[in-house]
Amino acid sequence: MPERRSDNARSGGDGSSGSGGGSTARSAARSNGSNAGGLFITFEGGEGCGKSSHMAWLTDVLEDAGRSVLAVREPGSLPINEAIRVILLNPKNTEMSPLTELLLYEAARAQLVTESIRPALAAGRVVLCDRFYDSTTAYQGYGRGLDTGHIASLNLVATGGLKPDRTLVLDVPIEIGLPRATKELEPDRLEQEDRAFHERVHEGFLAIAAAEPERVRLIDTSGEKLATRHSIARQLLDLLPELKSWAEAADVC
Ligand code: TMP
Repeated sequence: MPERRSDNARSGGDGSSGSGGGSTARSAARSNGSNAGGLFITFEGGEGCGKSSHMAWLTDVLEDAGRSVLAVREPGSLPINEAIRVILLNPKNTEMSPLTELLLYEAARAQLVTESIRPALAAGRVVLCDRFYDSTTAYQGYGRGLDTGHIASLNLVATGGLKPDRTLVLDVPIEIGLPRATKELEPDRLEQEDRAFHERVHEGFLAIAAAEPERVRLIDTSGEKLATRHSIARQLLDLLPELKSWAEAADVC
């Protein structure tokens, strides 16, 4: 039984899953993306948008179709990055400056890109990432009010120019998402921010989607979970033909 993303991404493993070298070679040959033979897909959205569970579902579907998948999250998925995550999300760190916050997110990103994402793409794998640089634009740019030009430069440095082939922004109203995110656990440092902050973050994601409609697709999550999955499949069909049956089902929904 292959390891599933939800376990790996949370535990600090590299999120590796799927089949071995033969499948890797097949994936490389079939990839439609621009990232070194692999395919790089990111999931974005505000608090409680459900991206983690939809990403876990997609991981399963792709693995069942024979793809080799690396599923990771930001910040996290590597020992160094899980340590950075603890610092960033600890609600006791009230004195953290917006610039320190920005640089810590970028530091974790640089490590993940170098240690996990680039090697996986080079091996022809599908990389699914729970948040990437669009979160920095939305949270530290729109949310904190840091200069988005500086953020774009830092994103470029941290990623070395790596861009997702496709980004799905899972859109959820704040009044639904925030309570969902904080239902079982104490709110973390970001979740604790006021409603105005989360509204600016939401605006940021909408602006990002509007600015790059080819790469970034907005997914309405207000319906049933199944309807959201069908929308996701439809938005990825050109890159992942194995999602055809899901995407076709979407058309009859
Ligand atoms: P998560 O709870 O969705 O895993 O994300 C962790 C938190 O970090 C979430 O509140 C969003 C925030 N975040 C940023 O503020 N900037 C970033 O660049 C990233 C990747 C996440």
